[in-house]
Amino acid sequence: MSHTPAAITAASIPDFYRQLHQQLEAVLAGESDWICNLAQTAALIMELMPGLNWAGFYLLRHDTLVLGPFQGRVACTRIALDRGVCGAAASRRASLVVPDVHSFPGHIACDPRSRSEIVVPVIHHGRLLGVLDLDSPLPARFTDEDARGLEGVVTRLLEASDVSHPPA
Ligand code: SME
Repeated sequence: MSHTPAAITAASIPDFYRQLHQQLEAVLAGESDWICNLAQTAALIMELMPGLNWAGFYLLRHDTLVLGPFQGRVACTRIALDRGVCGAAASRRASLVVPDVHSFPGHIACDPRSRSEIVVPVIHHGRLLGVLDLDSPLPARFTDEDARGLEGVVTRLLEASDVSHPPA
C-alpha cells in the first residue's frame, strides 16, 4: 500500500485492515510481553497507515491516562479522564472518531498539525487498561470502518499479551 494520503479510499480500507492484521500476527508471534507488544503495535500502525502524524497508547494509572509506547512527536504525558478525546473515549468505553479536532470541546492539542483523531479504548475482561490514539494532519482522516479495524487490532493485541500484571 502506498503511504500517500491520496491512497485512502473507501474501497481500500478493508484491504488495508487485512494487511495490517496479517502483519500484526507476524509482529506479535511468540511474544507476550505487554509493553513490548504495545510498542510494536504502535510502530506497525505508524509504518503502514497512510496520513498519520502520531500513533500510540495512553495507559490508565489509577485515574489518569499516562503516555505509553508511541511513534511521533513528544506528546502530553498525562490526561485526566474528563479531558480530551482520549479521556472521553476512555470514560465512555467506546471508540471515538473526531473528523475535526478543533470542534471537539476539550481537545488537547499535543501537536498543532493534528486535524482529525481516532481513539479506541483498550478493555481487558471489563477492565479499562488505556486507549489507542491516532492523529492525522488530514481533516476527517478516520471513519467508523477504521474504528472497527482498530478495535480488531486491540482485541488481537490483548489476546497475544500477558496483561495479568500490567504496571499499576
Ligand atoms: N489529542 C489528544 C491528546 C493526545 S495527543 O493527540 C497524542 C486528546 O485530545 O485527548
